[in-house]
Amino acid sequence: MSRLIVVSNRVNPPNPAEGGEGSVGGLAMALAAALREYSGIWFGWSGKTIPEFTGQLNMQRIEGVTVATVDLEETDYQEYYNGYANKTLWPLFHYRVDLTAYDRSFGEGYDRVNKRFAETLLPLIEPDDIVWVHDYHLIPLARELRRMGVTNRIGFFLHIPWPAHQLVVTLPRHRALVEALFDYDLIGFQTEESLQAFEGYVFSEVQGRKTERGELEAFGRGLKAQAFPIGVDAKDFAQIVQGETARKVYDRMMAHSVFRKMVVGVDRLDYSKGLEERLIGFERFLHDHPDLRREVMLLQIAPLSRDEVEAYQDLRTRLDGLIGRINGAYAEMDSTPIRYVNRSYRRDELAGVYRASKAALVTPLRDGMNLVAKEYVAAQDPEDPGVLILSRFAGAARQMKEALIVNPNSPEEISDALERALSMDLAERKRRWEALFDNVNREDVTAWRDDFVAALRADPEPDADKPEP
Ligand code: ADP
Ligand code: G6P
Repeated sequence: MSRLIVVSNRVNPPNPAEGGEGSVGGLAMALAAALREYSGIWFGWSGKTIPEFTGQLNMQRIEGVTVATVDLEETDYQEYYNGYANKTLWPLFHYRVDLTAYDRSFGEGYDRVNKRFAETLLPLIEPDDIVWVHDYHLIPLARELRRMGVTNRIGFFLHIPWPAHQLVVTLPRHRALVEALFDYDLIGFQTEESLQAFEGYVFSEVQGRKTERGELEAFGRGLKAQAFPIGVDAKDFAQIVQGETARKVYDRMMAHSVFRKMVVGVDRLDYSKGLEERLIGFERFLHDHPDLRREVMLLQIAPLSRDEVEAYQDLRTRLDGLIGRINGAYAEMDSTPIRYVNRSYRRDELAGVYRASKAALVTPLRDGMNLVAKEYVAAQDPEDPGVLILSRFAGAARQMKEALIVNPNSPEEISDALERALSMDLAERKRRWEALFDNVNREDVTAWRDDFVAALRADPEPDADKPEP
């Protein structure tokens, strides 16, 4: 069978030799799970910077996967990672035009790093390999590989939303970015909504069309574009929650729950996650329900992310102020309504926390999918499950209809959903959870990987109406 080469900017699978933890973020979590049964290669950035790019590969074998990483130059890190990836594409694709910076040097850094990635990866690619590229950092990678003569099948999966046409066109060089996608054989999106937005752009902006076989054609080339909603390793999660660490965390949390029911939020500290809106919703709940104030506590776990980018620093400052204000107003001598933690935890610790929480608040303003919502469901006790409160703007809301769906911009909706979650009877909680768990279990990370890889492997059939090159 052909090998799978996975490429992503962030490469950090859990490494037992280093205490078992990888990086925080849906992409790394999902790929670590997806590659577990594959003897492939995972290639990307080491997370380190050096004064001058050397292209030196660092190869490691971690849990059956060959991990190949390369260091980036400091300027690359600033222009490509902090710049084009996280000050241009990330905010724009999450509908934050107000935070989007368009600096020419960012685009140049982006192209340069994609070329450097391609040059470094090239010697690792064998004729039968299939290559699977991930996320917004690496859109032009296939273009660079094709220029170097690579004819292997190459697929791309976008972990974040593809935004509406009107937003894409605000990007200088948007056409070049989309054209670069046409060097892939297959591109995958999290949701039908993102797929349709992409198709909308192709039809109206570059006069593309759909062939009879359903391929998209533009720039004289064709590709398959499909939605592949990503999942979690639900079986693994349901299992680790039974393990010793998870149980210890669970017991510790439940001991506190004697005094207060716990509601949990777990997110990278990112403006797309709706953290401020969530806290304001919680504040509204405390205001509206004086009788429940002493009964409920919110645990917000928010590890720092991209903290060299100003928008992230500003958000952190605002959150510090907001949490201080709410705790100041509603704390008692012996209790505080919000516990706020900026660190990351092991997966099994998180599993214990999820299980001990009566409800989870997952309220992004925009999110490609949101894996925390799925992990929360996977970790619940089937006999006494907690309630998921989920933003309608998370990709996950398409599949997780039995959650309490809210508009995170409305503090009242968040407050009402909390009240409803905390008073929901066991029969309703079970009914909702069973349906959610069934979905999380069926559409898990293995199904996502297998569906994508099968679609990428599938030989293109000859297409009668394809134009001559
Ligand atoms: P994103 O990819 O935007 O960060 P997701 O919800 O899709 O959002 O994925 C986040 C992933 O990071 C989840 O797998 C979650 O468990 C993990 N994660 C988030 N916060 C922490 C934390 N404090 N400690 C450990 N893992 C975390
Ligand atoms: C999201 C993105 C990933 C990214 C992750 C963590 O999940 O889709 O591509 O890896 O956030 O962000 P970071 O910038 O730390 O890699």
